[in-house]
Amino acid sequence: MTQQNRQWLLARRPQGEPQLTDFELVESPVSTLQPGQVLLRAQYLSLDPYMRGRMNEGRSYVQPVALGAVMCGETVSEVVESRNERLPVGTFVRADLGWQDFAVSDGAALRVVDLTIAPASIWLSVLGMPAITAHIGLLDIGQPKAGETVVVSAAAGAVGSMVGQIAKIKGCHTVGIAGGAAKCDYGVRELGFDACLDYKTAAWRDALKQATPRGIDVYFDNVGGEILDAVLGRMNPFSRLPLCGLISQYNATEAYGIKNFRSILVNRIRVQGFIVFDRPELWSAANTDLIAWYRAGQLKHREWITSGLENAPRAFIGLLRGENLGKALVKIV
Ligand SMILES: NC(=O)c1ccc[n+]([C@@H]2O[C@H](COP(=O)([O-])OP(=O)(O)OC[C@H]3O[C@@H](n4cnc5c(N)ncnc54)[C@H](OP(=O)(O)O)[C@@H]3O)[C@@H](O)[C@H]2O)c1
Repeated sequence: MTQQNRQWLLARRPQGEPQLTDFELVESPVSTLQPGQVLLRAQYLSLDPYMRGRMNEGRSYVQPVALGAVMCGETVSEVVESRNERLPVGTFVRADLGWQDFAVSDGAALRVVDLTIAPASIWLSVLGMPAITAHIGLLDIGQPKAGETVVVSAAAGAVGSMVGQIAKIKGCHTVGIAGGAAKCDYGVRELGFDACLDYKTAAWRDALKQATPRGIDVYFDNVGGEILDAVLGRMNPFSRLPLCGLISQYNATEAYGIKNFRSILVNRIRVQGFIVFDRPELWSAANTDLIAWYRAGQLKHREWITSGLENAPRAFIGLLRGENLGKALVKIV
């Protein structure tokens, strides 16, 4: 019997927070392979905040997902049929195959992963794009020096948790900002932050002052909005601000206007927005570091796994609400 492929399509462009009705699940038979092709079956799908931006129309750093097209996303997938001698059955690869069970590929743009180094899911988290983002953003743009104070927002998440740990490896004083006591507790006890502040409490701005007695040298921003404004008030002269993400704004229908812009001028802060894919020349060195730190047990992590492709939209909406503690993944098989 021909295998069926389930696919999540973008059915509507969301206004504000995505709704389940913005996605449509369809099924179709898996195609027959041509010479040179492989059939890939997804094991894990990575859910990432950038997907929210791809659901919008308009100018950005990449094209949006078209209405009626498969939602974009990186997977770790297994070759389950092969007509390509370079990719035998049983090979595991990372690739942008989208929210679906199966995909046919000619082998281009597939990156083989070595499951003897780490299990499949790790190649989407601690050894995947979020960790590379943390490495490049912190070390290349943030340029932290031992003894300096590094602050990161969304600190318990996929990128933030890596930023905090890499900064600690580099000998910095680390302060996380996260939503809720459980995430902050995880930040200090497991991720090793010197302090982790719950921005949902009224006193968090005072707590930021206390946790950064020598000011802030690097602020790795994942969220933008009011948190960015508050942190700008603690930045040191000639500090650095890698602008990685603005998740507090992704579902906003009205943009938050930064009020503390003056701090950038008077402190001569170097603010740099970046996209991890802009710097392919840095990926190999980042991978080498991450694999070494992972093998040495220096990178703690958690995964927030949702079972079943059918539950991907619900999990994605939850990620944007901050329901995840750790890397958001969908386990497909
Ligand atoms: N520039 C790049 O190349 C690049 C690459 C990867 C990721 N990113 C960006 O990095 C950021 C983190 O991504 P991730 O994959 O690591 O996700 P994540 O941190 O694992 O999950 C997203 C987290 O954002 C926080 N959040 C949601 N709404 C918020 C709000 N209104 N205010 C403050 N925090 C809010 C939530 O944590 P709390 O419960 O703590 O609020 C949520 O758990 C995102 O902005 C993403 O777009 C950028």
